[in-house]
Amino acid sequence: MQLCQCEPTDLPNRDAAVAAILAGHNRRWGARLDGFRAYAGAPWWSPGLIITPELRGRYEGWLPVAEFCADLACLGRAFLPAPSWVPRRLRSGGIEPGRGPEAPLSLPDLWARLPPRIAARVAFDDAELPALFAALADPPRFGTDSARYEAQRAALGAYCRGAAGDGRRLTVVDLACGVGLGTYEAAAAAAASGAPPRVLGLTLEPLEAWMASRCCLPHDPDREPRLRRLAAQAPPVAFLAADVRRLPLGLGNAVDVILCNGLIGGEHLQRLDDMAAVLREARRLLVAAGVLLVANRFHDGCRAAVERFAALARTAGWHVDGTWHDLRLTP
Ligand SMILES: C[S@@+](CC[C@H](N)C(=O)[O-])C[C@H]1O[C@@H](n2cnc3c(N)ncnc32)[C@H](O)[C@@H]1O
Repeated sequence: MQLCQCEPTDLPNRDAAVAAILAGHNRRWGARLDGFRAYAGAPWWSPGLIITPELRGRYEGWLPVAEFCADLACLGRAFLPAPSWVPRRLRSGGIEPGRGPEAPLSLPDLWARLPPRIAARVAFDDAELPALFAALADPPRFGTDSARYEAQRAALGAYCRGAAGDGRRLTVVDLACGVGLGTYEAAAAAAASGAPPRVLGLTLEPLEAWMASRCCLPHDPDREPRLRRLAAQAPPVAFLAADVRRLPLGLGNAVDVILCNGLIGGEHLQRLDDMAAVLREARRLLVAAGVLLVANRFHDGCRAAVERFAALARTAGWHVDGTWHDLRLTP
């Protein structure tokens, strides 16, 4: 678990080795692009173009997405502070079903998930690398945002007011916090209702944790001011990269409130064994009177999976109430 200690402006190792790898990448993919333009007979992708199986085939013939991702991963290993910082969707082996977004079937499928300024491109200049890797770690489609879980904030506020009455300072952990907007928002809500809490955000991608702690979104200049504003209104929050199924925390029986939003039952975490692992970890962390708040804004297609999680929790001895969009679990 590492967090970059450098400033956003000098993200990592932008040195001669990176420049050489980037130049090689741009040469190789520039030549392939020339071939595609001359012979593929397919339109250049732009947002809104329907990606048919035929279009995929034509792109794959000249610009194979798996090779493109492997080349970006190689660039990422040189550019980022450690190999573990390379966004998971670029790493070989990809992501197992039910444990994250499926691998893209073609370059247009990958581009459709990226911000417009990085999409529909195969070559980049070095100043664009922070935005490129940040977008791959935090694609707009999954992006963390604020003002999503009003009912949960009210429940958190009520819990904090109760604790303040007992003169206690709370510890709050936000699991799968992404780039931190919801974490800062929850931290501010908790602070407004009692003594400033200790708050820790945990998320899978080291680059997400870096963006959250630095309040820096190189790929998303529209959301960054919101992130900065929320952070300015909140007490200090720490962020770490960690997998919710195996938390590296020596925080046993020390956490009052766990938040886990936009994760369980969605594309990132659907398997029962993973849900059971989250429940085990939550129980290990929580104090006896603690609470696990699980919210999402998923479409109805995810409802069955979230309900499977609620049923699993009841079987494991948790008291569960609330709706499938907004669960409250007590051990
Ligand atoms: C849809 S985002 C939700 C972000 C935020 N909690 C919210 O609701 O706005 C899902 C987040 O879960 C993170 N994630 C996925 N699998 C994870 C895991 N096994 N452990 C920790 N974080 C995970 C992703 O990196 C992503 O940031």
